[in-house]
Amino acid sequence: MLDLILKNANCLIEDKFETLDLGIKDGKITELPLSPGAQATKTFDLKGLTVLPGLIDTQVHFREPGLTHKEDIAHGSRGAVKGGIVSFFEMPNTNPSTTTRESLEEKLNIAKKTSYSDYAFYLGASAENAQHLHTIEDLDGCCGVKIFMGSSTGNLLVESEQVLEQAFTSAKKRIALHCEDEERLKKRKQELFQEPVTVHTHPLWRDEQTALIATKKAVNLALKLKKQIHTLHITTAEEMSFLKENKNSLISVECTPQHLTLSAPECYDRLKSLAQMNPPIREKRHLEALWTGVQNKTVDIIGSDHAPHTLEEKNQDYPKSPSGMPGVQTTVLLMLEHIKKGRLSFQDLARLMYHNPVRLFKIQNKLGIKVGSDADFTIIDNNKSFQIENSWMETKSGWTPFDGMKIPGSITHTIVRGQPAMIDGELQERIESKNLSFEYN
Ligand code: DOR
Repeated sequence: MLDLILKNANCLIEDKFETLDLGIKDGKITELPLSPGAQATKTFDLKGLTVLPGLIDTQVHFREPGLTHKEDIAHGSRGAVKGGIVSFFEMPNTNPSTTTRESLEEKLNIAKKTSYSDYAFYLGASAENAQHLHTIEDLDGCCGVKIFMGSSTGNLLVESEQVLEQAFTSAKKRIALHCEDEERLKKRKQELFQEPVTVHTHPLWRDEQTALIATKKAVNLALKLKKQIHTLHITTAEEMSFLKENKNSLISVECTPQHLTLSAPECYDRLKSLAQMNPPIREKRHLEALWTGVQNKTVDIIGSDHAPHTLEEKNQDYPKSPSGMPGVQTTVLLMLEHIKKGRLSFQDLARLMYHNPVRLFKIQNKLGIKVGSDADFTIIDNNKSFQIENSWMETKSGWTPFDGMKIPGSITHTIVRGQPAMIDGELQERIESKNLSFEYN
């Protein structure tokens, strides 16, 4: 007896859609196609729906421990499964920062008890741990090290080149980097903040050069030390052309859906500080260059950078308003909008949010829609539109910059290792969640 049968499933297998029935047992795909007469405890008829391998969000901030008035792992992961996300990588700028084995273990323990999806956590690099990162990141469930080269939310920062080099040398897994140059951030702040400022100043303060200097530094160091790095939330045309020319298999690149959807100044006129994040949303020429990067495969991964703050915090006058916006629940929906517009295909989406995360971070047991793989699925209805609303959001912060946006499709099911976490848009009872495992060498 199987646990679950998916009938009439139009599955993305390798690079092609094929409609078939498949069977799931003990969290794995065991029958593809289904053998005649096979039975299961539960069957879903997925006629007319699009079945993708379960999408992974490799950049979220779920704020637990320490900042749980903004978000926690339970609410963040509820948003994830409602938004079609099967597993997440969570960032270390919590309170305390995740810089020790104990703090990583604490997050893994909380997630085991409260997460609605599968999970992994980043280890934050600091001056204190930079020389022995490998002895902490080997913990099962740790996806790698995160380095903030410029200061953002929280106090994690690696400013000195010496510490940066130590961190690159001691880390063994792929290193994720927030690329903004701290020295230039300080200089620009002095130059610009003498006069009263509004949120429109944000992309001028954290300007193109700020991003480019740090991205070049990170890439050059990775090439010199032969280390694998992942440059997070790339935002400028200049970085994209630099990366296109200089990237090899050591370097991977992320863009966020918000940088691929919103542009300045319109976003600041309309959304004020709700559009404020680091690195900033910039003018349209950058958005177009990011799309070119997605299309020519300079961009490897789309991650949400889900970074909630309360509306009360966001409504403070700039620059007191904190940077970041929720996104884990809206990322796949925004991509459906871009698929409809012809900016990318379902194949691209599966590559950017499943196959590349699996390959680049060496996630185990994720083979795609194939016998032997974890039975993870994101299922989409292209014929039913959906309107994003604040009231639909699970985040504790209670809002999205995409409130009111009508999407030409909807997410119907999220299945985590054979367990339905969301059915017909409805959150289910919490699944038995588990940490992702990584091949470590
Ligand atoms: O806008 C941002 N918010 N960028 C970051 O790098 C951090 C994030 C947060 O944690 O709030």
